[in-house]
Amino acid sequence: MQTEMPNAERTGVLAPLKKLSVVVPTFNERKNIARLVAAVGDVLGDLPWEMIVVDDDSPDGTYEEVRRLAMGDPRVRCIRRVGRKGLSSAVVEGAMAASAPVIAVMDADFQHDETILRKMYDSLLDEDAELVVATRYSEGGTVGDWNAARAGMSSFATWAGQFLAGHQTSDPMSGFFMLRRSLFDEVVHNLSQEGYKILLDIIASAGRPLRVAEVPYTFRNRLEGESKISPMVIAQYAFLLVEKLSKDMVPARFVLFCLVGGLGLIVHMLALGIWERTGLAFVDAQIAATGVAMLFNFMLNNEFTYRERRLKGSARLKGGVVFGLVCSIGALANLGVAEMALNATDNWVLAGVSGALMGGVFNFAVSDNVVWLRKRRRAKLVEPAVNGAVPA
Ligand code: GDD
Ligand code: MN
Repeated sequence: MQTEMPNAERTGVLAPLKKLSVVVPTFNERKNIARLVAAVGDVLGDLPWEMIVVDDDSPDGTYEEVRRLAMGDPRVRCIRRVGRKGLSSAVVEGAMAASAPVIAVMDADFQHDETILRKMYDSLLDEDAELVVATRYSEGGTVGDWNAARAGMSSFATWAGQFLAGHQTSDPMSGFFMLRRSLFDEVVHNLSQEGYKILLDIIASAGRPLRVAEVPYTFRNRLEGESKISPMVIAQYAFLLVEKLSKDMVPARFVLFCLVGGLGLIVHMLALGIWERTGLAFVDAQIAATGVAMLFNFMLNNEFTYRERRLKGSARLKGGVVFGLVCSIGALANLGVAEMALNATDNWVLAGVSGALMGGVFNFAVSDNVVWLRKRRRAKLVEPAVNGAVPA
């Protein structure tokens, strides 16, 4: 595995070669982190390790605490991310910054039993595995004291995840695992990086059977602070399932976009009903209802479908207008295709569905690129400053 060694003669530093990088995503874990560093150090003993804590600018100042620890212990490093959020993407960022050939991922709240880290590392080598999953579900592992709702939800998620991961592990939802850097590098470009399900994402993205080992453990209760799991995290999991099950053919965002569209249709019919009653001509009522539905769809998509690219202030106003225009063209496309399909098949259901699908795909494809465009960071080439001049 080990290739060229950064040897002491060259660097002049006599440090043992790192064998394991432990990546820990954190959000508001200030009170846990010092104990975690100490506990991990106790377990790993003479195995040279480093810990990379990836903190998303926690309001409780976790990053300050990590920095303080890092001042006194070069094995600890802090990545503070500003303007980005999410467990999975934090893990990816930590793993990319890690330098050892083996990477462990674990939570900071002591729910993951750090005392099995050494055992995980040994099984990776002994069993020549690429991935070691700390499992709550095989013999010897348990989920600890969870209420029925959380246990039920977790079993469903696990069942769906196992299906997706080709039954390669008993605990695809585990946030506690170890893998070879080579595997991480192999899959990193395909990871969706959304939500919590980084392990499942890794297994599903590999697209080939992996050499997996498992180490059972008992999921503990959180030491300090609280869980950050939210309805959004659960929804993101559902989207990951759709995306991976359809082999990336159906983007999760499209499903959400269609759901919003369906709700919009209901709003449209309600609005139409109200306007009809005011004695307005049908065409006028239809136009008014269309406007209401578009506004409704725009707001919902802005709030949920494109949450992380949400438009605010004047950009929202402009986005709403553009969205209205896009949807109007989409409606024309819808009509055109529906009419063609009706002529060809004489089946009004088929015609209606093809029209709606055409409109939906058009609206989605264009909105995705025009209304909620991804923020691209412009790679500005900064000329080196001459004589201390500040580059423009
Ligand atoms: N950087 C970063 N950004 N870290 C985060 C974020 C985030 O947005 N959200 C959560 N974390 C960190 C937490 O600080 C903690 O160290 C770890 O990720 C897990 O978060 P929890 O909020 O404690 O998750 P949980 O206990 O509900 O879920 C755990 O168990 C699940 C299995 O039931 C996680 O390990 C999941 O990955 C696991 O699937
Ligand atoms: Mn937790």
